[in-house]
Amino acid sequence: MSAQIIDGKEFAAKVRAQVATHVARLKEENGITPGLAVVLVGEDPASQVYVRSKGKMTVEVGMKSVEHRLEADTSEEDLLNLINKLNEDATIHGILVQLPLPGHMNEDLVINAIDPAKDVDGFHILNVGLLGTGQKSMVPCTPLGCLMMLREHLGPLAGKDAVIIGRSNIVGKPMAQLLLGDSCTVTICHSKTNDLKSVLQGADIVVAAVGRPEMVPGDWIKPGATVIDVGINRIERGGKNRLVGDVDFASASQVAGAITPVPGGVGPMTIACLLANTLTACCRANDIQEPAGLTP
Ligand code: GUN
Repeated sequence: MSAQIIDGKEFAAKVRAQVATHVARLKEENGITPGLAVVLVGEDPASQVYVRSKGKMTVEVGMKSVEHRLEADTSEEDLLNLINKLNEDATIHGILVQLPLPGHMNEDLVINAIDPAKDVDGFHILNVGLLGTGQKSMVPCTPLGCLMMLREHLGPLAGKDAVIIGRSNIVGKPMAQLLLGDSCTVTICHSKTNDLKSVLQGADIVVAAVGRPEMVPGDWIKPGATVIDVGINRIERGGKNRLVGDVDFASASQVAGAITPVPGGVGPMTIACLLANTLTACCRANDIQEPAGLTP
């Protein structure tokens, strides 16, 4: 059997088009332009690429994009002052501080300084608590994108056995909350899990988010399972640099019912969901009904 490929690029383009339609309507009917501020501290090359791409797509959907690039040796106090200014700026509805931050900064302190209503990453402790208790919150972009793709491909998820590999605050834990919210039976595995292969034998849904290149071979996957590969790992093969996921695509795509490729799977959905979250935050800030389908 050969798996259906879940095309994240195409799906993300649809989500962005939906966001753009709502942004145009907000401008026309309410005179409001959603604004997203992205803060980058230092010169991490991967972060620079992400930030540039976020800025470009923000403008493409008709939103205001503001970028703040700070030197790597910026003090934590200066960063917190900038966040306070953005919290008070009524033209900014979403704030994203690109991670990782330089070592001299306390990431938790910085993230929790963002107004939770503008926390389009969904990393603020208040949003984490709201999501964990099933209340309306801002939801982390990558797991939100994974949930959208799973619903689109499988329909209702109730009763499915879902196995998440990885327990990060950014993906693994919020993914578990979202799948629980859709009434899946959820198992979270990680680097200390004893027998991952046997846990995976029961998984209708696999979400791999460990950051280890091709660590899940096809013969660990239950035939017909839906596999969402969050990993983006840079490796060298045959003298060439390549991007691969946490799942061995060549073997897994012979066993799975459906699978996301790397690149072109989860990656494009993350930015699409960031734009969706900015629109949601803007609607909530202005007491305007938020569009359906862009939140859990
Ligand atoms: N660095 C890598 N992924 C992310 C993300 O989703 N949000 C932020 N703020 N930083 C990141």
